[in-house]
Amino acid sequence: MNFLVETVQVLLLSIWYNVKSFVHLFVPIKKKNISGEVVLITGAGSGIGRLMAQEFAALDTVLVLWDINQDGMKETARLAKQSGARKVYCYLCDCSDKNEVYRVADEVKREAGDVSILVNNAGIVTGKKFMDAPDSLIEKTLEVNTMAHFWTYKAFLPAMIANNHGHLVSIASSAGLIGVNGLADYCASKFAAVGFAESVGLELLATGKDGVKTTIVCPYFINTGMFDGCQTKWPTLLPILDPHYVAKKIINAVLTDQVYLLLPKSMYFIAALKNILPMEQGIALGQYLGAFSLMDTFRGHSRKKS
Ligand SMILES: *[C@@H]1O[C@H](CO)[C@@H](O)[C@H](O)[C@H]1NC(C)=O
Repeated sequence: MNFLVETVQVLLLSIWYNVKSFVHLFVPIKKKNISGEVVLITGAGSGIGRLMAQEFAALDTVLVLWDINQDGMKETARLAKQSGARKVYCYLCDCSDKNEVYRVADEVKREAGDVSILVNNAGIVTGKKFMDAPDSLIEKTLEVNTMAHFWTYKAFLPAMIANNHGHLVSIASSAGLIGVNGLADYCASKFAAVGFAESVGLELLATGKDGVKTTIVCPYFINTGMFDGCQTKWPTLLPILDPHYVAKKIINAVLTDQVYLLLPKSMYFIAALKNILPMEQGIALGQYLGAFSLMDTFRGHSRKKS
């Protein structure tokens, strides 16, 4: 095509998309109806996983819960039924084990049918300086926080592609956008999860499967126990997030097909600054925000969760 024609075209499109975004600051985007859809949530036995299950349940969905903690999952199932879930299925699944993911995925397909909303939420954190982190925990972190996403996509994406209908939700982290002192393996796993979800999302678009949506969630610390002990320096600028608020924002992002959800809002600004500021200013700003001492007081969960 002609350079001039294409340039004019992309300029006009740019103006149009910006006008549209601007209008949506005031006019809310219509939410989609997910009544009857099968929603799979990994790591559903606690934290954000449990709260998302309750939110999805209230939207008349069929829930498929995965966790390694049977008791936690049972409690989530009870709460989800109370919130109005059409049906709830529970599966013990260790997401760090590829063969187990595939085996349980087959069971899900037989018993609950095709999953149309896949929420990769299970996550773990080592919380040690890199040289102090045992190899086994580093590997486990990558397996649960990243590789499990590969295997669940392999298992559930084919049906979504065939129907050109579905939603892939990746619960990543702001540590998937910016490196953090004391979280090397965790950051690596979350950067990878973000890159993976973003790339597959583009691959789906490029192959015309625009009915399969992607949402990538990058929250700052959430008050769920996973990062117990960690403190934020200026809570007004970067608050520790309330899990109920995060769960509601995630569901809203899914219902409006929002691709990126960064929380709190200041994270959009911080992530953009990272790439444009002079390095030394970035470091100074990081120190000002307490980014270098975030993990100093880390205690974490008393027990591990999947
Ligand atoms: C959503 O769709 C279902 C059918 O799939 C329908 O019964 C229900 O009324 C719809 N809900 C809304 C709020 O439109």
